[in-house]
Amino acid sequence: MRQPMVAGNWKMNGSSDSIKELITGIKAGVGEANAEVVVCPPFVYIPMVAEVVAGTAIKLGAQNMCAQDAGAHTGEVSGPMLKDVGCEYVIIGHSERRAMYGETDEVTADKYSAVLKNGLKPIFCIGETLEEREQGITEQVVAHQLDAILKTAGAASLANAVLAYEPVWAIGTGKTASPEQAQEVHAFIRSKIAKEDAVIAEGLRILYGGSMNPANAAELRSQSDIDGGLIGGASLKADDFLAICVAGQG
Ligand code: PGA
Repeated sequence: MRQPMVAGNWKMNGSSDSIKELITGIKAGVGEANAEVVVCPPFVYIPMVAEVVAGTAIKLGAQNMCAQDAGAHTGEVSGPMLKDVGCEYVIIGHSERRAMYGETDEVTADKYSAVLKNGLKPIFCIGETLEEREQGITEQVVAHQLDAILKTAGAASLANAVLAYEPVWAIGTGKTASPEQAQEVHAFIRSKIAKEDAVIAEGLRILYGGSMNPANAAELRSQSDIDGGLIGGASLKADDFLAICVAGQG
């Protein structure tokens, strides 16, 4: 039985005051969640959030990480640093990093391996653009993105990782994939992994991301191959995020 996960990707939002309010609100309601709950604040607020969630079930994640451990990498944050401040998860390969910061499959694969090497767990994001979906190549695109990590780290590495299927056209647009559309791709991803390792595939958590909100979460989360969500916009309001955390079967 896979433990569902709901992770909040706060992206580049918030201030000391708003983030304190947000995490305090989440903490107050998290006891009801039927999922492992993870929050991914901007780097600079991680220690502050860590203080608030200490001793609770809320886990901490980062939104990005440098593949190198230390040294002359101006502006970067390393795995040992994230571990030091209490992170357990790191989002890797988010479509915004791929599209806006030039992260190639090779870069995401390096980062994925570095996260694991540092004893952290990647939340590895894959997903097609609208153009790719319309061309009917969704499966090829996600397979290719997955191959980047399968070739370098192997299917066994997924024992310590989480995948997030995030159709690019659904991120921040209010256009959610229908539960059937999402389930279809999730099932494809799991079957692809199963060809390499059936046991790993069965235990692997695959989150859906892209305009998940309190109104659509229960139906998405109840799909058999959807193991929770990676939430952007709706994770910035404690009540909305908590509503997603309690929704559906997981
Ligand atoms: P969204 O973002 O929920 O705002 O669509 C999801 C994500 O980018 O992870």
